[in-house]
Amino acid sequence: MKLTHRISLFVATGILGLTMQNSAMAQQGANVWDGVYTKAQAVRGEESYQERCSACHGAQMQGIEEAPTLIQGAFVYNWDGMPVSILFQRLRETMPLDDPKGTSRKIKADILAYIMSKNNFPEGQRPLPYQNSQLKRIQWNALKPAE
Ligand code: HEC
Repeated sequence: MKLTHRISLFVATGILGLTMQNSAMAQQGANVWDGVYTKAQAVRGEESYQERCSACHGAQMQGIEEAPTLIQGAFVYNWDGMPVSILFQRLRETMPLDDPKGTSRKIKADILAYIMSKNNFPEGQRPLPYQNSQLKRIQWNALKPAE
């Protein structure tokens, strides 16, 4: 076999390997139905939510005027099929609307855990991470994927 062929075979195998790894991760990888936050975290998140978000989004997340609801259909489907990192980035960069920099990533992860609990995604054993690299691996699915 010519060297160039060997190299391209090597590269192709490498890419194939990576692709397989990614799809394996997507298959067995977490989604919001797998229990990706803890109860304690959601309880902390509730307190922070009431302090920092509820004036606009409502005590029950029902939405008030311009501020949309953070529960049920319209909201849940907005983020359907996306990695949770995208929603988290939205929180990091834009919320609370009047002071997005004034709340730490950790507190925002707690608040997101609370939002998940209000949308009936199940709690689990590990807290929702606040690192982008980890949040990228968790998918937001509006409906529970079939087994
Ligand atoms: C000063 C009012 C205000 C506060 C406080 C506020 N928001 Fe918002 N939020 C809005 C408005 C208005 C929108 C829609 C327009 C926009 O995105 O700028 C919005 C949009 C959002 C969205 C996108 C909703 C969707 O349908 O995808 C999310 C998520 C969100 N806010 C979460 C939060 C969280 C979490 C907090 C607290 C950390 C918070 N907001 C605090 C006013 C606010």
